Amino acid sequence: MRVLGMDTSSDFLLCSLAELTSDDCELISSKDKFARRKANQELVPAIRDVFIETGYNFDSLDAIVCGRGPGSFTGVRIAVATAKGLALGHNLPLYGVSTLDALAYTLQSQGVFGEVLILGDAMRKEVYPARYTIDKHKVERHFEAHSVIKFTELLDYLSTQDLSTILFAGDALFKFKDELAKLKVNFVDEHLWYPSSKGLMLALKDMLDEHAGVLEGDPGLLLPIYTRLSDAEENERIKLGLTADIQAKTSGVADNLAGVHLQLRPMSINDIEQVAKLECSNFQDQREVWSEAMFAEEFKHKDRIWWVAHDQGRIIAFAGGQYLDGEVQILDIAVDKAYQKQGIGSKLLSRVSYDGQQLGAHSASLEVKSSNEAAIALYKKRGFRVVGERKNYYGQGSSALLMSASLPLAAVAGEDDHALPIIERSYPQLFSKRTKDELETIEAHRPLILSIETSCDETAMSVIDGSGAILANVVATQIDFHSRFGGVVPEIASRKHTEALVGVYEECMAQLAQKLKVEPIKASELDGISVTQGPGLVGALVVGIAFAKGLALGNRAALIGVNHLEGHLYANLFETPDLKPPFIASLLSGGHTMLVYVKDWGSYKVLGETLDDAVGEAFDKVAKALGLGYPGGPIISKLSEHGDPHAIDFPRAMLHSHDYQFSLSGLKTAVLNYIHNENAAGRPIHLENLAASFEQAVIDVQVAKAKTAVLEYGVHDFCLGGGVAANKALRQALVQTFKQMDVRVTFPPLLACTDNAAMIALVAKDKFERREFLDYDADAKPNLSLLELGEEN
Ligand code: KG4
Ligand code: ZN
Repeated sequence: MRVLGMDTSSDFLLCSLAELTSDDCELISSKDKFARRKANQELVPAIRDVFIETGYNFDSLDAIVCGRGPGSFTGVRIAVATAKGLALGHNLPLYGVSTLDALAYTLQSQGVFGEVLILGDAMRKEVYPARYTIDKHKVERHFEAHSVIKFTELLDYLSTQDLSTILFAGDALFKFKDELAKLKVNFVDEHLWYPSSKGLMLALKDMLDEHAGVLEGDPGLLLPIYTRLSDAEENERIKLGLTADIQAKTSGVADNLAGVHLQLRPMSINDIEQVAKLECSNFQDQREVWSEAMFAEEFKHKDRIWWVAHDQGRIIAFAGGQYLDGEVQILDIAVDKAYQKQGIGSKLLSRVSYDGQQLGAHSASLEVKSSNEAAIALYKKRGFRVVGERKNYYGQGSSALLMSASLPLAAVAGEDDHALPIIERSYPQLFSKRTKDELETIEAHRPLILSIETSCDETAMSVIDGSGAILANVVATQIDFHSRFGGVVPEIASRKHTEALVGVYEECMAQLAQKLKVEPIKASELDGISVTQGPGLVGALVVGIAFAKGLALGNRAALIGVNHLEGHLYANLFETPDLKPPFIASLLSGGHTMLVYVKDWGSYKVLGETLDDAVGEAFDKVAKALGLGYPGGPIISKLSEHGDPHAIDFPRAMLHSHDYQFSLSGLKTAVLNYIHNENAAGRPIHLENLAASFEQAVIDVQVAKAKTAVLEYGVHDFCLGGGVAANKALRQALVQTFKQMDVRVTFPPLLACTDNAAMIALVAKDKFERREFLDYDADAKPNLSLLELGEEN
């Protein structure tokens, strides 16, 4: 069996080609090397070098193996995303092994035997500990799931151990060797503190031997080992519990909007009174009920997960769970009697168990009264099985059943929007031989370019053909995951992209095949793979770029890098196909606010930008302050439809600055001060008027500067781009203004305003024609500007 292996979890990059036989593993070529913070630049070139050096190619491979960490989060994702791309690109099985296991096998291959404690570097004075017994014949692991602990906790553990019998290894030793040396511990040789390709291959060989015939090597199932939530998630969770919605409580805003926005949301401290009431009315004659104080206590713990469902602000159901040792224990579920049998309890169960899964749980457990047949039936539908019984738990003669299910919970059709999809398929895919007709069809559509967009919170892919027709378009949004944190959490975004890659790719390729009426299309039949290179969240961009490189390597497809902002500009072509520069465009999104003079496609002059917040960001922050949820743009613009835009006089910053700069932080502060003052005075806030007045202040400045730019440059076309381009009132104001000036106004179709890959595909097609390709050492450019494309400014 010939295997390509890679691992970028630590500063030491692994890349090799090996031959596994029934009793041995021989490295044919290995490019292991230090690549601190450069893994995304160096991994794919290293793989290419392995093939060039050995003369092998992907056809001579049987499988790919990838280290899953634990290690640096971004580092782990680089190899995982690259490997997913490579596996799909060549229809090869992909296997994952623990990077710490790889090190244990590395030690074995170097003749290090005995009791070994491996300490992986988890940054911030934490380590990933893993204990093994290694002898000549086997590597035995003494734990089930990987974990992360503080170094000080490790010291506590070590104080209970006989250190003279333990050998220490792992890259955390580079940080902690001095402190550990004080305890007189025994280190393995320093050159064995990182894993090697040999170890990675041996770990794979043992795993395959042990699970012969069971592992399918489906790239969709390979995920990084993280072991803990990111700081951002943990901090946001704590904030969420302790301080969320203070404004909502005093202003009554959240109630006002219930039903407009989320029906389900994480429980906040302000919900407790209603939650306790519901708990009481449902359960007081059955068991001891949770009191308000007990619910309040829950918010102090990081491992608790509570969600509520509300109808017009009234809490109608809630559910909660606790994460403990790889399991989420469901603590309580209650649904108001008037709302039962609508699947609300099931939905809440999904949210709680999904969050539990994010915390690391693999199973869920709960207790239910044995006479409650309806509930038991529901739980069974979701995959719960009875695993035990507690006699007389609910009083004499009334027992409780213990039920358990593995995660993700089984999905119930139509009812459950939140359970992870269950993958039922076999991999590698079967591709049949192409007929002559099929070959002709595909030929007629060349060049076929797949585009990938992962710069923010949308995982999107699209395929464009030589005529410029979009043949496939898939957008998987993560908004639901970010909305409960009131904004995009970068670490969550990167994780979700990594999870979504394979599903989005396969859906996209299926759409393409359906459109062309041919059997499934292979990556090797594509002419180009394009990917958003920036600007955006660096960790999110990295995932898309690594995946794109993996898909392209060894195939005919050229690699193309696209500027996300240029994509937003090109989105106007969907509405006005004959749109031709020169024209003026406004790019308004969550991250950008700029006026651009488009001299030609690919040649831009940025006339001015925001000095502080972006327009979308201002919408989001105002909505957050009002407790309205995320993203704020659509909520505010909906509210403002029924408001008076002149009710409150907010500042129009830079309106008369005689340049094309913008500033929105002053406006945002003015709105926040207004809310604060009204709350302090005990006056209820008129939400619609507030929204309309805020929006009008934004629009006045935008329209005035757009008009000046159009006049100054004497153009006859004006375009919008970015998420805020979906704003109705802004569109109307621009149409009004430019109608009088005989200027044609173009807005992208609503679906093409927010992030998508179809707009990236339009740019990619132009770049393909100009033969502007990327090398395999390309990396994310989080701060990429439009200026790099034009020569002005
Ligand atoms: O372009 P986009 O999807 O992502 C970025 O690249 O930022 O834009 C998202 C932004 C968010 O800030 C959102 O609040 C805003 O666009 N947005 C809107 C509207 N729809 C989305 N802002 C105002 N009015 C809208 N209707
Ligand atoms: Zn965008």
